[in-house]
Amino acid sequence: MAPMKPLIGQVKGLFEQALRSAFPSVSHEVLVVKGNPKFGDYQCNNAMGLFKEHGKALGFANPGAMAEAIKAGLPQNDIIGSVVVSPQGFVTVKLSEVWLAKQLSCTLEGDIKIADVSRKRVVVDFSSPNIAKDMHVGHLRSTIIGESTCRILEFCGHEVHRLNHVGDWGTQFGMLIEYMKEAFPNFQESLPEVADLQEFYKAAKKRFDDDEEFKRKAQIAVVDLQSGGEFATSAWQKICDVSRRAYQKIYGRLGVVLEERGESFYNPLIPPLVAELKARGLCKESDGAICFFVPRVADIPLMAVKSDGGFGYDSTDLAAIYHRLFVMRADWIVYLTDLGQESHFHMIFDAAEQAGWHRPGVTRVDHMGFGVVQGEDKKKFKTRSGETVKLSDLLDEAVERALQEITERVKGQEESGGEVFLKTPKEQQDAAEKLGIAAVRYFDMKQNRTSNYVFSYERMLDPKGNSAVFLFYAYARICSILRRAQGLGVDVAKLPASELKVGHPSERELALKLLRFPDVMEAILGDLHLHQLSEPCKLCFSCASSLLFPLRIKSCKVTFTQLHSRVGDGGKARECW
Ligand code: ARG
Repeated sequence: MAPMKPLIGQVKGLFEQALRSAFPSVSHEVLVVKGNPKFGDYQCNNAMGLFKEHGKALGFANPGAMAEAIKAGLPQNDIIGSVVVSPQGFVTVKLSEVWLAKQLSCTLEGDIKIADVSRKRVVVDFSSPNIAKDMHVGHLRSTIIGESTCRILEFCGHEVHRLNHVGDWGTQFGMLIEYMKEAFPNFQESLPEVADLQEFYKAAKKRFDDDEEFKRKAQIAVVDLQSGGEFATSAWQKICDVSRRAYQKIYGRLGVVLEERGESFYNPLIPPLVAELKARGLCKESDGAICFFVPRVADIPLMAVKSDGGFGYDSTDLAAIYHRLFVMRADWIVYLTDLGQESHFHMIFDAAEQAGWHRPGVTRVDHMGFGVVQGEDKKKFKTRSGETVKLSDLLDEAVERALQEITERVKGQEESGGEVFLKTPKEQQDAAEKLGIAAVRYFDMKQNRTSNYVFSYERMLDPKGNSAVFLFYAYARICSILRRAQGLGVDVAKLPASELKVGHPSERELALKLLRFPDVMEAILGDLHLHQLSEPCKLCFSCASSLLFPLRIKSCKVTFTQLHSRVGDGGKARECW
């Protein structure tokens, strides 16, 4: 099928022509917005402003008269079904039902594609846990939203590089290496099973704080690591491997793909980069540190090199942005971390602009910040005993609860003598894993990312709310409609366009919702607010199919419309299942 175009863009195009033909001597920006569904689908708001500025000169008595002229200027087209002009000057249009039906039927023909996206090379920096520390719920949002962002960008045709900027470098490795030596003397031969990395980190830190001798050795180990010493390097690699195995397990469960390019990767780039920045007068020495001052925060500079000569978070991110924009030639970089790091990234972006690596308008950089995950008490999400919640435990619990739901339902099916779908414990467990993980992911993705949200297993797994469970449920029902249709000898995917009718208000609303898919994608590419994709259709129980459907369940969404168009309204559609 031809790629889908944003509906609003198409309507705007018509009004652009109308304005040009009605008032050729006046230049103007077209003002078209989504209309109040009671009156129409879209509304042109130009007449009022135009009347104020040019009405008299052009000989119009009031905004309403100018609106009439806009209406008359609309070119011949098959998109608009009816036009209404209000005395205040609003021009409201309803899209033609025949046109809507035709557009919908086109979506049956092949893959759904979005038109007019110029392919960009995008780096998405997400997840990025820290070595030897467990991934916590804060990394959950980065991982989930990051993965979804990448999928959306790829869907829109961009070249996406998914980078995991893991915290795999820094002074803490001295104590970790020393502790590894102590706790697992033969770790060089066999990789230890560090079950609890958090505990390992804590124990190393305790040794570091309590024992001067240990501390001294740890400091030597840092120097050794930074100068590429053989033992320190291989110990560091082993520690990274242990961590890597833990987070890869989580990525596997979440279906997340990432390329690891941790902080250590940028280490060799930092000295020449700092030398260049110094030579260009962009960095200067202050209290023994090498600082990059950016205008946004006048008195706190970025530390290109710390006063102890070491490289920190700022140094690495300066090198990373240079590498991504200058070496990788990325057009766009998106960073996902909590909002607490926003000013750090804005300073990095400013520095990159001053250095000439980032050219606004040509390149784009975004910090996709997100809020905190809270417990029911609105405080940071913790376990009952007050510990940070580990991501693996959190996923396990979601799966566990999903399994409970499933087994109860199966029991109900058995007792009522109905058909049992998930017969064996293995099938039930597999379904629970899918359902539990999807519930966590979808719940996170549907939040406005900049807000904090309260973590709730109940709401995630609510079969009636806007949850993954409900989407699965709706999907299963849609599949059953497909099967029934087939049983009646109707192959929905092959129905001719003329069979598709959009008449009833609920059908119109659904058709618009589906056809506004590219509008939503366009908005997301602008503000990176993914929750716009998970706003459900509120028409009726049956069509609370979210806009995610066009992405995942392409053919079914059309079936849905088909069914609506045949049955007449949502309520009856429900009965016919
Ligand atoms: N490791 C950091 C953390 O856990 C996140 C890194 C984000 N990416 C970056 N380029 N700084 O907070």
